[in-house]
Amino acid sequence: MTVQIDHALEEIRRFRPSPEFAAQAVADERLYEAAAADRLGFWADQARELLQWEKPFTRTLDWSNPPFAKWFDDGELNVAVNCLDRHVAAGNGDRVALHWEGEPGDSRDITYAELTDEVKRAANVLEGLGVGEGDRVAIYLPMIPEAVVSMLAVARIGAVHSVVFGGFSADSLASRIDDAEASLVITADGGYRKGKVFPLKPVVDEALGKTEKGTVQNVLVVRRGENEIAWDDARDQWWHETVSAAQAEHTARGFGAEHPLFILYTSGTTGKPKGILHTSGGYLTQAAFTHKNVFDLHPETDVYWCTADVGWVTGHSYVVYGPLANGATQVLYEGTPDTPHPGRWWEIVEKYKVSILYTAPTAIRSFMKLGRRIPQEFNLRSLRLLGSVGEPINPEAWIWYRHVIGGGSIPVVDTWWQTETGAIMISALPGVTDLKPGSAQVPIPGISIDILSDDGTPVEGEGGGLLVVTEPWPSMLRGIWGDPERFKETYWEKFGDKYFAGDGARRDEDGDIWLLGRVDDVMNVSGHRLSTAEIESSLVAHPWTAEAAVVGASDETTGQAVVAFVILKASQAEQVTDVAEAADELRRHVAAQIGAIARPRQVFIVNELPKTRSGKIMRRLLRDLAEGREVGDTTTLADTSIMQVISAQVR
Ligand code: WTA
Repeated sequence: MTVQIDHALEEIRRFRPSPEFAAQAVADERLYEAAAADRLGFWADQARELLQWEKPFTRTLDWSNPPFAKWFDDGELNVAVNCLDRHVAAGNGDRVALHWEGEPGDSRDITYAELTDEVKRAANVLEGLGVGEGDRVAIYLPMIPEAVVSMLAVARIGAVHSVVFGGFSADSLASRIDDAEASLVITADGGYRKGKVFPLKPVVDEALGKTEKGTVQNVLVVRRGENEIAWDDARDQWWHETVSAAQAEHTARGFGAEHPLFILYTSGTTGKPKGILHTSGGYLTQAAFTHKNVFDLHPETDVYWCTADVGWVTGHSYVVYGPLANGATQVLYEGTPDTPHPGRWWEIVEKYKVSILYTAPTAIRSFMKLGRRIPQEFNLRSLRLLGSVGEPINPEAWIWYRHVIGGGSIPVVDTWWQTETGAIMISALPGVTDLKPGSAQVPIPGISIDILSDDGTPVEGEGGGLLVVTEPWPSMLRGIWGDPERFKETYWEKFGDKYFAGDGARRDEDGDIWLLGRVDDVMNVSGHRLSTAEIESSLVAHPWTAEAAVVGASDETTGQAVVAFVILKASQAEQVTDVAEAADELRRHVAAQIGAIARPRQVFIVNELPKTRSGKIMRRLLRDLAEGREVGDTTTLADTSIMQVISAQVR
């Protein structure tokens, strides 16, 4: 376990919901009672209440073939209709769906009626390009409205999207396109980031040159960055020429509740990312349920803003599917928090009177470093609820968030979940649950969580162990794309029919759950998952590298940071005269191969790595070094003196 709870026990405080908040809260105690009395009945009620079904379901859960769950599987629905058309039909077409803010300061307000029309046009274009039910579409876009439109258009026609974060490299994009066998890529010429245009279409061109399967027939390109790009007439189409000209009539049909909705690649413990598969009815039910109850959504009056990129699962569930299924009005922001000035986020909160803000601890900690003067220049009084996700939020950051951003008395909800869980699993319900800074607290109604010791026995009462989900849940992953064996092995082999999340956790004396970080070789950098194995294999692919070991070292701002230890090939000794330059070259190499988020904070060139007698690298010892600690127990090393040699080289 790599993340420590950085608080003294006596500092734990509890905050009762204020009576005013509780009086207007969407959630109440009865949700817990109903779910405890009849878990499946509870989820069936939620699915019926929150969604519109073309064909009602009669079966709630089929768990006859674990770990392959089916939820509501004889029902049919259209996910895009649930997010769009039905709100227009209910008379809410004029409600703003998206307040979009571009980084350079341009902006667009898009109503539900307009968004519905745009999605219908895009659906017509996709069908015109031959994309049909079950076909995969890769989406590689900046945070512009067309990203949301693309995802919903794909969903509307029963195709399957695979959104790839715009910060990933051509290699990463190519391997995802190949794995999903995508037939279409939707991209933009470029997007804005830190005041500059970053190219996307050129990366797609490069990626398509690298794909091995050649499945991509067309590339649909949104004009955004106005940067110069190459063009292939036979393959490429402009969005503004095709979608804008298409008909806004499109009849959507229902698809089975278990019809695949999307694949999203995430890092695992091996070098190859896993394509996490989510389906329709159960996923949308839990995304909508949690978005409504955890964020206390009043769709007529709230302005909601989740700062996540659509390239991550938070952007899928809490920018696109949850909020739109609930008819929310939300902010979508293209750029970085500090462009063109460090108060940009707070300016946006003031401009749109944002009432609900959902972001990551790493962002909160960077704002803490800059100081409270920056947010205090803006009027943030519209805020009435704050959320956190992606990594443990330390109590200090929690308190700062509540006081400096939230004005001191509004609820902060810390939400634990994963790409695999599809939606929030552990969180307080605002207005109902007492809040405890630093703890994600309690499973949401209808979710069964436990903490097990390594041999599978449940930890009773207070104590620490491994976090598991003990009953299937509606938005659970349905598998790893194309790899059912890896799905079973990764999540189900360890504890039978209990889902192993890969996180350590502790239950305190009140029964509240504290997340303690990953227990596997997955790192969490700025709330983004990275695999040590993937970065190691990238380092080893460099001609200079003989061997590499990567660890996640704790970092004040980003939670963890990538630190690499590399042994260079003896044959390269002549080329590499300057160790600092070699380290820089390797850092650049990883960024180019995987993406800038994977760039190591430090690369140490060493002559040896600490190994056990069986040849396994002892990352624990390297982590001690990377974090500047005294090196721990070295007795299992094949050569116990090796750490002294390495320490000397790292200093
Ligand atoms: C971590 C992001 C502590 C955890 C939604 C998990 C958290 C991984 C929290 C999933 C939280 C997420 N407290 N840790 N509130 N939320 N995590 O798939 O280690 O990108 O396994 O999903 O992030 O990351 P992923």
